[in-house]
This record gives sequence, C-alpha cells and structure tokens, in this order.
Amino acid sequence: MIMINITTRRVLMAMWSMVFLAPITGSADEAMLEKGKQVAEDRRKGNCLACHMMGNGELPGNQGPPLVSMQLRFPDKEDLRAQIYNPLEKNPNSLMPPFGLHNIVSDEELDAIVEYVYSL
Ligand code: HEC
Repeated sequence: MIMINITTRRVLMAMWSMVFLAPITGSADEAMLEKGKQVAEDRRKGNCLACHMMGNGELPGNQGPPLVSMQLRFPDKEDLRAQIYNPLEKNPNSLMPPFGLHNIVSDEELDAIVEYVYSL
C-alpha cells in the first residue's frame, strides 16, 4: 500500500473537490438562474417584461428602467430584493407590483428572480 502523509492527503482532497465538486455547485447556480429567468418572464408570475427591458426577453415594455448593469446599480443585493419584494417602500406611487409582499411570487421564486436579475 502506498503511504501518503496527512498534508498530501489534504492537498489531494482539495484538488479532488475542485475538479469534481465545482461543476456540481456551478450547475446549481445555473439552475437557479434558469428558474429566475423563467419566473421573471412568466406573464402570470413576474411579468417583468411588461414594463422592463430584461435580458433577451421578447416584447419588453418601457414603463420601468431597463434592467441592465444591476450589480453596479445595486451594490447590495438585499436592496435589489427589497425593490422587488415591495417597490412601494421606496416609491409609494410606484406602478410596480409588490411581488413579495402580495405573494405574487413565493419566497423561493423571489430569490431566483433576484439571482437572475442580478446577473444582468
Ligand atoms: C407594471 C409595471 C412593472 C412591472 C410588471 C415590474 N416593474 Fe419593476 N419598475 C417599474 C417602474 C415604473 C420602476 C421605476 C421605479 C418605481 O417607480 O418604483 C421599476 C423599477 C424597478 C427596479 C429598480 C431599477 C432601478 O435602477 O432603480 C427594479 C430592479 C425592478 N423594477 C425590477 C423588476 C422585476 C424583477 C420585475 C418582475 C418581477 C418588475 N420590476 C416588474 C415597473 C414595473
């Protein structure tokens, strides 16, 4: 049997997890983004395209600002979540529906929407 010391074993474990686990965690993120895009574009869920240009979504409206460079405009992702959860807090006259507060989308769907929009 080949003897390897504990340090070597740790290094090998770390390499193993980088090679094999990274694609797995990567694909979880991909799935989340895909779900977020789907819910955001769904006319009976987010329906964000009714008012916003968003990614490659078709037939966008222009009542709201184009959803681009989101990470620059929302350095704190929580602020983006708050805007989608309840836009009326920032602007009591907002046209935008309070998606979280009124349970138009579930918490899980909201998280996915936030991830997707944050990637734009
Ligand atoms: C009925 C129209 C409408 C719909 C539907 C709508 N929005 Fe909005 N949204 C607006 C308007 C108008 C604003 C401008 C700020 C305000 O009035 O609150 C806005 C602002 C925003 C902002 C802030 C942009 C910035 O740079 O300040 C974000 C982010 C946003 N909307 C995301 C979404 C997402 C995500 C959805 C779908 C889940 C959505 N909106 C659906 C009308 C809408």
